[in-house]
Amino acid sequence: MGRAMLHPDTLCARAGEKLDRIVGGVTTPIHTASAYMRADVGGTAAYRYPRYNNIPTQDAPAEKIAALEGAQAGLVAASGMAAEAVALLAVLAAGDHVVFQADLYGGTHHFLSVELPRLGIEYTLVANADAASLEAAVQANTRAVYVETPSNPLFHVVDLAAVADLARRRGLVSIADNTFASPINQNPLALGFDLVVHSGTKYLNGHSDLNCGAVVGSRALMDKVRERAVDYGVTLNVYDCFLLERGMKTLALRMARHNASAMALADFLSGHRLVSRVFYPGLPDHPGHAVAARQMRGFGGMLSFELDCSPKRARKAVASLELILEAVSLGGVESLICFPCETSHAKMPPDERRRQGISDTLIRFSTGIEDAADLMADLEQAFARAMRDG
Ligand SMILES: Cc1ncc(COP(=O)(O)O)c(C=O)c1O
Repeated sequence: MGRAMLHPDTLCARAGEKLDRIVGGVTTPIHTASAYMRADVGGTAAYRYPRYNNIPTQDAPAEKIAALEGAQAGLVAASGMAAEAVALLAVLAAGDHVVFQADLYGGTHHFLSVELPRLGIEYTLVANADAASLEAAVQANTRAVYVETPSNPLFHVVDLAAVADLARRRGLVSIADNTFASPINQNPLALGFDLVVHSGTKYLNGHSDLNCGAVVGSRALMDKVRERAVDYGVTLNVYDCFLLERGMKTLALRMARHNASAMALADFLSGHRLVSRVFYPGLPDHPGHAVAARQMRGFGGMLSFELDCSPKRARKAVASLELILEAVSLGGVESLICFPCETSHAKMPPDERRRQGISDTLIRFSTGIEDAADLMADLEQAFARAMRDG
């Protein structure tokens, strides 16, 4: 049975598995060795060393992500930032230029504004990125275009097929951060992108208990990414590889619940008298809804909203939650809530945050897999308490 024909649920459960051939175990063993014997004295043909990313325990999650994204090859890295860094450095060198959409994860924004200039790489940030405005920023020395969709934390939706087309026409490498959507909801490579990066810390692992990242793409490009990954030593250790592979076995199941609950919560919040705005690509009045409906199979588990009250009361509301946890990060089984201005975008200069529409009262919500009715009840009691006690 050709693995290429298997459905995403099956790929989550089985793709990449390296069954234990010694004792017949049905899971991938954790290979702890950092040194492997030569083939002619009892080892295997592949030269194996953890930093070279070729230990079977590392291959298993990398191949699972590649299968889910429809990629020829993939590798896992120590964090989402490590994955982004090696993807960018694989295609950029001193004197090159890269075009980014402006509304990016704050850590990505910090990386490009601090690290790229140190390496002699120029960049342009494009607000409200659509293919035409991204193309307008292309220069003679532009080598790549990088987008994140839906974006963090306002859910700007980029038309991936249109950006892939512009990249092809202008000879650029196109890179998409697919963290928020997950490969269950969206596959940029199928729409013509060259590389996809993930913070595997989020939905891929899904249990808020490790930091990891991944890059997938064509074999030719991934050879370059792998070279950077080996040089910079962004290895993911085998214990975390094991956790990541195990977490991904339930990715499709989890995403179905995340998608359904976030939609229900977006509807609940939209109809709530204390909520002034809701940002969720699944809502028909979201500016990116039509494009999202075309390129996504589900709208994801992330949403943001603003309360129609003072910042003090908004804070009180979040502090009054009993079930939902106030914490950074996203994509886990437990619902998390945060103020992006203090967390994901704390490193972004305040004027840039304001320019992007990230107010100090914007609240970001990562819908977990709890029952949606319990989440709504928690929000309702917290809003009521904030309004009463102010
Ligand atoms: C969209 C997005 N991309 C990349 C990252 C970076 O991932 P990591 O924290 O695993 O390095 C994050 C982290 O929050 C993110 O939200």
